[in-house]
Amino acid sequence: MANLIGDMARAVGLPRLKRAAGVVTRRLPIPQPLLMVGPGASLRLAQAVANFGHRKVFVVTDAVIVKLGLLQPVLDALSAADAGFVVFDTVTPDAPIPVIESGIARYEAKGCDALLAFGGGSVMDAAKVIGLAAANRKHPRELVGYFKGLRAPPPIYAVPTTAGTGSEVTVAAVISDPETHQKLVVADTRLVPRIAALDPALMTGLPAPITAATGMDALTHAVEAYLGEWGTPYTDRMALAAVAMIYRQLPQACTNGRDLEAREQMALASTYAGLAFTRANVGNVHAIAHQLGGRYGTPHGLANAIVLPAVLHWCAPAVQGKLATLAVRAGVGKAGEEEAELARRFVASVEDMNRAIGIPAQLAALRADDIPALAAAACAEADANYPVPMVMSATACESLLLGLLPESPKAARAPRRKPAPESVPVKARKVARDVKAAPTRKATAKRR
Ligand SMILES: NC(=O)c1ccc[n+]([C@@H]2O[C@H](COP(=O)([O-])OP(=O)(O)OC[C@H]3O[C@@H](n4cnc5c(N)ncnc54)[C@H](O)[C@@H]3O)[C@@H](O)[C@H]2O)c1
Ligand SMILES: [Fe+2]
Repeated sequence: MANLIGDMARAVGLPRLKRAAGVVTRRLPIPQPLLMVGPGASLRLAQAVANFGHRKVFVVTDAVIVKLGLLQPVLDALSAADAGFVVFDTVTPDAPIPVIESGIARYEAKGCDALLAFGGGSVMDAAKVIGLAAANRKHPRELVGYFKGLRAPPPIYAVPTTAGTGSEVTVAAVISDPETHQKLVVADTRLVPRIAALDPALMTGLPAPITAATGMDALTHAVEAYLGEWGTPYTDRMALAAVAMIYRQLPQACTNGRDLEAREQMALASTYAGLAFTRANVGNVHAIAHQLGGRYGTPHGLANAIVLPAVLHWCAPAVQGKLATLAVRAGVGKAGEEEAELARRFVASVEDMNRAIGIPAQLAALRADDIPALAAAACAEADANYPVPMVMSATACESLLLGLLPESPKAARAPRRKPAPESVPVKARKVARDVKAAPTRKATAKRR
């Protein structure tokens, strides 16, 4: 009953707030980094950074990247140009707060005045928060939410070494709190890096499972940005271009990681998807995936990949036309074919893609006992943040998660292919606009 009341309140109250937020987001000037693209782009970025004459650049990375020798040429380029730098190489997946704390201390102790992030989303996000925290003398927890720092961070430069998060162009940084098992978002337009280098040569050794998971993160960004209610002609173009590129290149990047062309196209697709979702935002898939990442440490891209088909099955009736367009851009159908059939084919193609690149259909770590809390937190996150095309009830979310349980008898019973009746398509909700707005739920977490 409590859930039902909550679901009704959410259906009639929050859309107004989110529409208002959508108007603001559409008008917000979001800077776009200068992009350097192609093999060797990271060295060109290093030369440009050296020429800016910073006192000392704080190079943020992780131990795997250092061990693989990927960073050394960039450090050599900085040294050759007489640029001062300090390397901070202890970032771990999901940028945990204690790691960021030690980064802030090191940044300040060494008197740095710029940051160069060289790694995946975890590294880029750690660098963003280290910079913002140092500029504002605040703890990372105090920066969670939107525009929580008065002062701008020092200049941030980014070299992504995975093709997935798009963090090199986004306003967001996702960090994790090991104490509460939550993932938290820090968002500020000044977190967008000034220059980003998309260097496919750095990605040729990325193992296939990470290539697959991060690629599906990029696909999820593009799909959720396109299906959500804040899309603009610009974000739609970026999202659709990203989908087309990912469908063409992701299987090849997984099976032949040394294919520079496939790697470059995936890096570009990830950036395009980032440009789309940093304005149009994400949706229910991310809301659920963040809970799985926080609770079980499931890699972000893997969680999205497993959840995406289930959410698409569930919301398909509300977004059939858009799914049909996605099918055409993904190359699994032709313009002019029947819309319902195209939509069905796109959803099936996401499952086929997962299968082809080795993503499981269920989540091994998921426990049935956790599902009610996971569903409640996912709904709260989506309510507070995301312009979803269809509001997900806690009941529908629980059903969906039951379908992801490994080898559970409940999995077989879970109604994965039908929308739960108590879930409310956004278009249907609009007739309820004049119903007195219910008090909004406070966000329990702001995440991306
Ligand atoms: N800021 C944003 O807009 C945004 C968007 C989506 C996701 N995220 C966040 O980003 C994080 C995930 O980032 P990710 O998916 O890039 O993974 P990641 O940065 O955690 O890296 C995954 C693993 O790949 C390794 N790795 C990275 N590059 C490599 C390379 N070139 N060769 C070999 N190994 C390499 C890393 O050492 C690490 O072990 C999550 O915390 C997620 O929530 C942020
Ligand atoms: Fe993501």
